[in-house]
Amino acid sequence: MKNVSRCSAGECHKITNQLRLSISREEIAVLYQEDAEIIANRQVADFIFEIDLNVPKIANCAMPGQFVQIKITQSIDPLLRRPFSIFAADSAAGKISILYKVIGKGTKILSKKCSGERLNLLGPLGNGFDFSAQKCSGHLNILVGGGLGIAPLVFLAEKMKSLNNKILVLYGVTTAQEIVCIDELKKIDCELKIATDDGSTGFNGYASDLLADFLCANENNDFKNPYIYACGPFALLKQVHRLSEQYCFHGQVCLEKMMGCGLGVCLGCMVKIKNSGAQTGFSYQRVCKDGPVFDLHLVDWKNEKVS
Ligand SMILES: Cc1cc2nc3c(=O)[nH]c(=O)nc-3n(C[C@H](O)[C@H](O)[C@H](O)COP(=O)(O)OP(=O)(O)OC[C@H]3O[C@@H](n4cnc5c(N)ncnc54)[C@H](O)[C@@H]3O)c2cc1C
Ligand code: FES
Repeated sequence: MKNVSRCSAGECHKITNQLRLSISREEIAVLYQEDAEIIANRQVADFIFEIDLNVPKIANCAMPGQFVQIKITQSIDPLLRRPFSIFAADSAAGKISILYKVIGKGTKILSKKCSGERLNLLGPLGNGFDFSAQKCSGHLNILVGGGLGIAPLVFLAEKMKSLNNKILVLYGVTTAQEIVCIDELKKIDCELKIATDDGSTGFNGYASDLLADFLCANENNDFKNPYIYACGPFALLKQVHRLSEQYCFHGQVCLEKMMGCGLGVCLGCMVKIKNSGAQTGFSYQRVCKDGPVFDLHLVDWKNEKVS
C-alpha cells in the first residue's frame, strides 16, 4: 500500500498504487490511510493492552464491527499489517482505541511502543454490525463476547444504547485476570453477566453456557425472541449457532480469519457462506471485505474452520 488520497470531488477516496484496478471506487468510499500518533499504550490485564491512536479521519467514520490494519514497524518485518477491531472511536477527539492481546511477533512489538511514536493505519475496514431498527428494535439484544471478542461489542453496545435499545452483555473469559472494559460497560449502563472457564469470578463456564442458561430460564417470557450479536473464538460462535437452531433466534457474528491484504484483493480470508433469499447453494466471501460480520444462519458452520 502506498497512499490513499481524497479526490477532487471531495467525496470519494482512491488508493494510488497497483491495487487500484482491483477495488471499485464504491468499495473504497471511506477508506483512509493515516499516520497515527500513539496517544497512550497501556497494559490493562494479563497480556492485554489498550492503545489509543490519533486518527481523525478514521475516528470520524468508524462503525462497530469494523477494523483497522496496522503496520507494526516501518521495516518489512513483520511484512503484513495486523488487523484489530475498533474498540472505541471518539470523532470529537479524533481518536480510536484498540484492545489487543500479545500472542506473537507483531503484537509483542506493538506492546513496546510508547506515546508519541507513530503507526501507519488503514481503515475503517469491513462491513460492521447492522444495528438498524429493523434488526434490533423490539428485541432484547444479547451481545455475546468471548475473550477479546468483547472489543467490537463494547463499541456496538455504546451505539445501540444511544438508540435506546435493550441490551444484555454476556462476556466470557478464561480467568478473572483477563477481564477488561468493565468500566466502559458500566458507563454504557447495560446489563452484564460474566462467565469464566475456571469459575474464578461470575458464572463457571463459557459465554455460550451463560447464553444457554439465560434462554432456558426465559423461554416463556418476553425475552423469548432475542437478537444476538456475537464475537469471539470460533467454538463459541458455533455454539451460539447451535442454540439459535434450538431456540429459533436470529443474529450476526463477527468472524476472525488470518488476513493478508485486508482489502478484498488477495482472497486469503475466504469463508463459505450460504446464499440468502431464493438462491440455494453457497458462495465464498471475503471476511475482510464482505465481512467480518455475517448473518449467524448463513455461515457454513459444519465445514468452516475459521481461526
Ligand atoms: C477482523 C479481525 C479483528 C481482530 N481484532 C482483534 C482485536 O481486537 N484484538 C486482538 O488482540 N486481536 C484481534 N485480531 C487478531 C489479531 O489480528 C492477531 O492476534 C494478530 O494479527 C497477531 O499478530 P502477531 O504478529 O502478534 O502474531 P503472529 O506472530 O502473526 O501469530 C502468532 C499466532 O497467532 C495466530 N494468529 C495470527 N493472526 C491470527 C488471527 N487473525 N486469528 C487467529 N489467530 C491468529 C498465528 O497462527 C500464530 O499461531 C483480529 C483479527 C481479525 C481478522
Ligand atoms: S485479506 Fe486479502 S482478501 Fe481478505
